[in-house]
Amino acid sequence: MIGKPVLTAMNDQINKELFSSYLYLSMAAYFEDKNLAGFASWMRNQSTEEREHAMKFYDFILERGGKVELKAIDAPKIDWKSSLELFEEVAAHEASVTASIYALYEVALKEKDYPAQVMLQWFISEQVEEEKNVAEIVGNLKLIEDRGTAVLMLDHRLGKRTAE
Ligand code: FEO
Repeated sequence: MIGKPVLTAMNDQINKELFSSYLYLSMAAYFEDKNLAGFASWMRNQSTEEREHAMKFYDFILERGGKVELKAIDAPKIDWKSSLELFEEVAAHEASVTASIYALYEVALKEKDYPAQVMLQWFISEQVEEEKNVAEIVGNLKLIEDRGTAVLMLDHRLGKRTAE
């Protein structure tokens, strides 16, 4: 049976993951509007992954005999000044998700919830990967600034990302 502190923190984390999914879906729509199909496709995949993250917590709570409590999801932003500003926001958002996973891990340690610790290790590794991928895109966007041909090349590359 899952203890209350871990349960509460995991229900909160479901909300954060679903908000991430919603935010990235809004970013996909922004790129669709700019006719950048590759960026939009990358964001759609990212959005799908975040929903899968939420479902990992959802299923884990149920497996451990806990009650899933879904909360209201905040409305995401719908506009950004540039692709760079948008991806810098993704980087900051992922850093905040990492901090939240670390805080959750601390709760699991304090509560001596060993199954939760094992499950959270997957998320700790996933956050390293996500932060690395986003930092690379931010770096690329800084390098190419608004040069059209380079933006289209990056769009083409990001469009190759497939759902995991
Ligand atoms: Fe579910 Fe991007 O962290």
